[in-house]
This record gives sequence, structure tokens and C-alpha cells, in this order.
Amino acid sequence: MEIQKILVVGSGAMGSQIAMVCALAGLEVAVQDLAEASLEKAQSELRARVDRNVAKGRLSAEERDAAFARLTFDTDLAPAAEGVDFVIEAAVEKLDVKRELFAELDRLTPEHAILATNSSSFVPSRIADATGRPDRVVNMHFFNPALVMRCVEVVRGPQTSDATVDATVALTERIGKLPVVLDKEIPGFIANRLLGAVRDEAIRLLEGGYASVEAIDTAARTALGYPMGPFELMDLTGIDIGYYTKQGRFEETGDPADAPSRSVTEKVEAGELGRKTGKGWYDYTEGDH
Ligand code: 3HC
Repeated sequence: MEIQKILVVGSGAMGSQIAMVCALAGLEVAVQDLAEASLEKAQSELRARVDRNVAKGRLSAEERDAAFARLTFDTDLAPAAEGVDFVIEAAVEKLDVKRELFAELDRLTPEHAILATNSSSFVPSRIADATGRPDRVVNMHFFNPALVMRCVEVVRGPQTSDATVDATVALTERIGKLPVVLDKEIPGFIANRLLGAVRDEAIRLLEGGYASVEAIDTAARTALGYPMGPFELMDLTGIDIGYYTKQGRFEETGDPADAPSRSVTEKVEAGELGRKTGKGWYDYTEGDH
């Protein structure tokens, strides 16, 4: 089946850039979000990002305009879901929200459509049984910033069919990304599990008073060659995202080792969520980053 039309649910940092990647690759893309303000913000941010590529000569103005002409934005799910071949859900990381959404997507999308989630914490089997098409539910996990990062993890659940995995891999390649397929589902998949281990250790060093945020980030960048230190990266992806992921794991396992750390909880309670709020581990309002 040739995928022509995609629905992206959620227009936050991930959803909006995923949609743009697909539109730039020639696909027709509907973006749906309940919040009009989020759709507006997504459009203006994407314009600025893609304009920069035109200014740098990487994309012609015609290609940019054609890509935006393939993108539509809607607050209503039903019209956005009409005639789609593939859905990428990038809504909030809350299981009950995702399950409800997938049940609705199951009702609203054509029967052949594949329903993919960008979630890194909820594996296909946690969501698939909310639909009548568990063989067509899969994880397609992008990385932030999705316009830039090449890797997309494709994760199959026990019920996901080979045809679904093959179509997801083919779509990933078509949009210029590199698919990494997991053979068996596990929360966090590969990259976030590796990242989580580094992040946990960074927090341990900080909370133990061994080193500052700056020292830990500098070591990660200059001793290990990471493009960003763990704290800089939390500020980029949103401290709340990591917090909710850990909270979800903790609620599932009851293991205190899975609970969000004290310092991360304090940041979330203070509303210091990273770049998007102007302050996280670093302050972005005074140009220190
Ligand atoms: N959105 C889109 N593009 C962005 C961006 C953003 N938020 N931030 C930077 N870029 C673009 C820049 O415009 C620039 O593009 P250009 O070459 O066309 O000008 C390019 O990225 C490089 O940016 P910079 O030169 O400003 O800075 P860097 O060289 O440091 O690159 C980076 C920025 C690509 C973000 C790099 O620092 C990096 O790779 N950081 C690590 C990112 C990472 O680990 N991501 C995974 C996070 S985990 C995750 O996403 C999982 C999920 O489940 C939460």
C-alpha cells in the first residue's frame, strides 16, 4: 500500500516537526491538536525553521511553499482523520489519554490505516487493545529535534504484523530517516534507556554534591563527545517529559529507583521545565545559553 496521507496528532515540539519532515518528503499531512494556540505556535515556528533552510540555500522557496501547501492544521479529529493511511500520535505522555485517542482513531480512520505512537514509554501492547486493529499498532519513535535527528525507532508489539513493521520502516526511509527496529518491545526502547542511565548518574552526581550542572555537562561534551550534556538535553526536551515518564514507570513498578528524583521534581513543581519556559537547569532569559 502506498502511503499518501498522514495524520499527526499533537502539535507540540515533536508533532509539529514530525509533520514538517513528512510534508517536506512529499506526503500530505494533517496536523490535529485540541489547542488552537498550539497549532498557531507550531505553524509560526515551522515557518521560521524552514525559512532558515531556504535562506541557507538548502531548499528552494518553491519547495518550501509546496511543503506548506501539503500541511493542514485542524482542531477537530474527525475531518483530519478522513482518508488517512498512517497516523503518528504525538500527544501527551499519559496512557489513559493515548488509549482513548487510539480507540477514537480506530473509529475515525480508514480500516487499512496504521496507527503509530511516538511514545517512548508506552509500548504497542499497552495501547493496541484499545483498538480493533492491534496488528496495525506500532511505535514510531522520533528524537528531538525531529527535523534534525536521523534515528527513528520502530517497535513492534506481540500483535504487530510484519506488514505493519515493513510499512513503518518504508515510511521512515521515505522521509529521510534511519529506522532502527527493535525485535521485542521494552519501555524506553534503545536510545532513551541508554540516555536514562546517563541522566540518572548525572542527577546522582549533582544531588550528592559531587559536581555542578555545568561541570557534568562539560564533561559529557568534552570527555565523551556528546553533542549536549545531560542537563542541557533535559532543558531541550522538557524536564516535565522525563518526569512524567519516570512517574509512569514508578506507578507501574512501585520501585523507588524508578521514581523521579528530588531535584527533577522540584524543577517541575517550580514550573522550570527547560527552554520552553525560559528556565530549567539553565536560565535562557539572560542569554547564558
Ligand atoms: N529544532 C529544529 N532544529 C534545530 C533545533 C530545534 N529545536 N535546535 C537546533 N536545530 C538545528 C539548527 O537550526 C541547526 O540547523 P542548520 O545546520 O540547518 O543551521 C542544526 O540543528 C545544528 O544546530 P546548532 O548548530 O545550533 O547546534 P548543535 O550543532 O549543537 O546541534 C542539536 C543542535 C542537533 C540539537 C545537537 O546539539 C544534538 O544533537 N543534541 C542532542 C540531541 C539529542 O540527544 N536528542 C535526543 C533527545 S531524547 C528524545 O528526543 C527522546 C524523546 O522520547 C524525548
